[in-house]
Amino acid sequence: MNTIEGASLAPQATIGILGAGRVGTAIARLALAAGYRVKLATSKPAEENSLIIEIVTPGAEAVSASEAAAADLVIVAIPLHKFKDLDSHALSGKIVVDAMNYWSATDGEIPDFVNTALTSSEVVAAFLSASHVLKSFNHIGYHEMEPDALPAATGERRALAIAGDNCAAKTVLRRFIERIGFDAVDAGGLEAGRLFEPGSEIFNGRFNATELNELLHTVRIPT
Ligand SMILES: NC(=O)c1ccc[n+]([C@@H]2O[C@H](COP(=O)([O-])OP(=O)(O)OC[C@H]3O[C@@H](n4cnc5c(N)ncnc54)[C@H](OP(=O)(O)O)[C@@H]3O)[C@@H](O)[C@H]2O)c1
Repeated sequence: MNTIEGASLAPQATIGILGAGRVGTAIARLALAAGYRVKLATSKPAEENSLIIEIVTPGAEAVSASEAAAADLVIVAIPLHKFKDLDSHALSGKIVVDAMNYWSATDGEIPDFVNTALTSSEVVAAFLSASHVLKSFNHIGYHEMEPDALPAATGERRALAIAGDNCAAKTVLRRFIERIGFDAVDAGGLEAGRLFEPGSEIFNGRFNATELNELLHTVRIPT
């Protein structure tokens, strides 16, 4: 069931992040700085993560994966080959942002992502068939996230693409991205994630909203 028609993300909304590695903790710190409540989970029990999360992301809560999945917006930043560990039931009806990449050069070949015409996020979305899966955050390095984040009032800032099939979900994500320090550009449906997957010009660069929008309309799809 679509539970997000007309959805918005309240200023004090909760952001659940699955994966407390480089990407998950960088997004967590940005979200905390923007005033969100942040719940971080890994595959380990919450109590095993609480000390490190307190040190690396002060203010975030170490929780179980199911508690993170219950947040208003859920970001998945785990190694892609672990995607079938995600709890599709707990994520049912949720806005799920796929920040993952399929990068065979570093991850090796993952059978689900080889010999398919689908983008990596479409494969994830097929597994999370009751969730509203969006793709974003995958085309910015974790080490760039905090240095590149800027308040909107400062003028031109770095833009992040959003691909997804649910417009209300994309509106929610757009507000989150804009509040943590970036402009957001709608790339189109989830299949458009192909335009900013590894190997693409967008993946390898840093662009403002105008440049990103133009590239999304002219970019050659990597083969
Ligand atoms: N590195 C970058 O600059 C960058 C940028 C954009 C996107 N990405 C993509 O983002 C994803 C994460 O990259 P990363 O560099 O942050 O990886 P990372 O530093 O290795 O962190 C991965 C995190 O995922 C957790 N994890 C593993 N399995 C899990 C599960 N089933 N449920 C919940 N948490 C789980 C790990 O903890 P445990 O093993 O303890 O569970 C760890 O906290 C990858 O798909 C990557 O391609 C990376």
